[in-house]
Amino acid sequence: MEKNLKRTTYAGLVNEDYLDQTVVLKGWVQKRRDLGSLIFVDLRDREGIVQLVFSEEFDKDALAVADQLRSEYVIEIQGKVVARAPKEINPDMHTGKVEVRVTGINLLNKSKELPFEIKDGVNASDDLRLKYRYLDLRRPEMQKSLLLRNRIVQSVHSYFDKNGFIDIETPDLTKSTPEGARDYLVPSRIYPGHFYALPQSPQLFKQLLMGSGFDRYYQIARCFRDEDLRGDRQPEFTQIDLETSFLTAEEIQDLTEGLIAKVMKDTLNVDVKLPFERMDWDDSMARFGTDQPDVRFGMELKDLSDIMANTDFKVFSGAVANGGQVKAIAVPGGADKYSRKDIDKYGQYVERFGAKGLAWMKVTDDGFSGPVAKFFKEGDWFAQITEKTGAKSGDLLLFAADSKRVVAQTLGYLRVAIAKEQDMIDQNKWAFLWIVNWPLFDYDVDLERWVPAHHPFTMPAEGDAHYLNDGEDPHKAYAQSYDIILNGLELGGGSIRIHTRELQMKMLKALGFTPERAEKQFGFLLKALDYGFPPHGGLAIGLDRFARLLAKRDNIRDVIAFPKNSKATEPMTEAPSTVADKQLLDLDLLIAKKENSDADKD
Ligand code: AMO
Ligand code: AMP
Repeated sequence: MEKNLKRTTYAGLVNEDYLDQTVVLKGWVQKRRDLGSLIFVDLRDREGIVQLVFSEEFDKDALAVADQLRSEYVIEIQGKVVARAPKEINPDMHTGKVEVRVTGINLLNKSKELPFEIKDGVNASDDLRLKYRYLDLRRPEMQKSLLLRNRIVQSVHSYFDKNGFIDIETPDLTKSTPEGARDYLVPSRIYPGHFYALPQSPQLFKQLLMGSGFDRYYQIARCFRDEDLRGDRQPEFTQIDLETSFLTAEEIQDLTEGLIAKVMKDTLNVDVKLPFERMDWDDSMARFGTDQPDVRFGMELKDLSDIMANTDFKVFSGAVANGGQVKAIAVPGGADKYSRKDIDKYGQYVERFGAKGLAWMKVTDDGFSGPVAKFFKEGDWFAQITEKTGAKSGDLLLFAADSKRVVAQTLGYLRVAIAKEQDMIDQNKWAFLWIVNWPLFDYDVDLERWVPAHHPFTMPAEGDAHYLNDGEDPHKAYAQSYDIILNGLELGGGSIRIHTRELQMKMLKALGFTPERAEKQFGFLLKALDYGFPPHGGLAIGLDRFARLLAKRDNIRDVIAFPKNSKATEPMTEAPSTVADKQLLDLDLLIAKKENSDADKD
């Protein structure tokens, strides 16, 4: 076959439309079946797989080359598309009704035996997959995920362009912008002892662009956060970031809904119903125990504190007397499904949230059963509890009695864990909703101090700014902020921002900044607010999370070409790595051994 003939189409696209045509295809050998005088080869490229047939009858030389082919050899072929015999038809494949009779072939490259097979659901460890990421990415499910991610990105650009948004890049070498995580630092060679910080988000720059009058900004921006990793977190990740001037929170939410609806239509051909539900943060915490509720199923948390104040069961009445709560979830049909051992297992698990136990009762036709049922036999306990919880005969009631925070975390976690275990979640649903009216501050139990619930530039709720005045309790303030949730996961968040120096200073003061420290860290922003700064607000959606949910994958790594592993390293390039002494010398840096981990503290 003549070399370098132009490819006529992708292997994975060859179907009945190509019948009787001569095609030129290029790609990888997925599989070879040798029947002696007849050789079948599955040829793979990014669009899929097509079956090639080699025979002396079609081309003798090609058959000889086919004889040497092994998995992952790279070839180009020329051949004729013919219909498969009826019993050979594979209705599940796009190319399943046809095959290509090969009349010419060039072997372009060979391959060693691979560390794992190129197929979906491969049995290889995460680190092996990352070490050979370029091979991992050949796997059809990975190709599909990255192609989907590309569709999302194209859809996003088109939406913003149509709606008058301007794509503006912001720096990666910058000054620290606090989003609540640790910064990645880059030493300056020119100014020894000085560091750039990689942006945790473009937050301050996009606000400054509003000060510049750009009015509608967007960017698909890379962000960097040195934080503990989980399935939906990476040290570097991507945001669909936007900021607007003169719009209300509702108008920004509407714009975001338009974006999401377009992406859902363009990528999955799914029509989502607008507007999305807006739920107050307080309601979400009360009903679901979390600010990222999964509303695809019920089993909501029910508050029994008022009636439990009077029970002889001291665990419950004591919690209420101490200013805490007693809440319950009713697991439908859980009475038979869960043994005492199963419930004990959950009881142990929720200890991590500070729970001191997990009381339970089974609902039967004859009242409650279980070790604590004895406290609820007399009087109208049964009627009251079943009425409040909606529990029916056969259900299992799980109770948490503790501080509001512990109760919310315990039952919020159990609700989701049990729903997953019992297959209560409709996997075909796309449950978007807004959580609105957040508190301005959140108490961080690990840091033992108040932190911004969103970030320090968030505008207090209408009428709540006075809480930031001296002598008032700032923690009572609510915020003009909003999160967008999809299927029980935070997809994005945003807020209306503070646009006057006076209020911004009060906010920083409430966060414990002295005027000097505020000036040192945020002086450039404060100064900008002095020069006719417009009211503004925006939002950022985590692109990796969005893509992962649309691709129905478990980990955001599966929609990122070259991610880090759970230890924040990159097994293929082996980053991070040590550097040459000369490089350190240039930067005036000396590596000191850490003596204790106190350096971790703020
Ligand atoms: P926030 O910090 O809530 O807001 O981030 C917005 C969205 O970014 C995604 N995200 C992440 N994705 C992967 N890995 C991470 N480590 C990670 N951290 C965050 C989440 C999250 O909802 N500047 C503000 C936005 C604004 O106010 O406009 C911000 O960054 O999906
Ligand atoms: P005890 O009286 O400690 O033996 O506990 C009786 C039952 O109440 C056990 O099932 C415990 O798991 C449960 N329990 C104890 N403390 C709590 C709590 N704070 N919230 C819910 N259940 C609890």
